[in-house]
Amino acid sequence: MGGGTAMSKDLDDALIAAAREAAGQSYSPYSDFAVGAALRFADGRVVTGTNVENASYGLGLCAETVAVSKAMADGVRGGLVAVAVTGPQDKGGGDPITPCGRCRQVLNELAQLGGTDPEILCVGPDRVNRVRLSTLLPDAFGPASLE
Ligand code: THU
Repeated sequence: MGGGTAMSKDLDDALIAAAREAAGQSYSPYSDFAVGAALRFADGRVVTGTNVENASYGLGLCAETVAVSKAMADGVRGGLVAVAVTGPQDKGGGDPITPCGRCRQVLNELAQLGGTDPEILCVGPDRVNRVRLSTLLPDAFGPASLE
């Protein structure tokens, strides 16, 4: 099982499916690169997001940032345990997608609020790369840094 239990595999599969479904709502006419993100919280709640682009190209929002914004707007402030990110299967040279730098920082804010270090499931066409947020964003600046 690669260290995980059957139940956690089911949860991760469901999270990836939720991210893929969210990508179906992507508004990405400029890049044609549909991204889906799904956040899982300790209480089992799942919040999804997708990328939302803009005619003013630089104003586009990434899927992970939209998902975090939705969660925060719903009052969710902690307990982020896992994040799945999906991209187009036929792009990226076969490598799993990886959250951009800004999204790592945005995810870190929500993670640190709840004192968690979520596992990021970076989904590729034929494999999933699992990595902790603290590995993607070492020595992160976060809410505690301002205390
Ligand atoms: N994108 C995301 O939504 N998340 C990432 O982590 C990487 C990039 C989006 C931004 C833009 O709409 C499209 O993918 C191409 O860069």
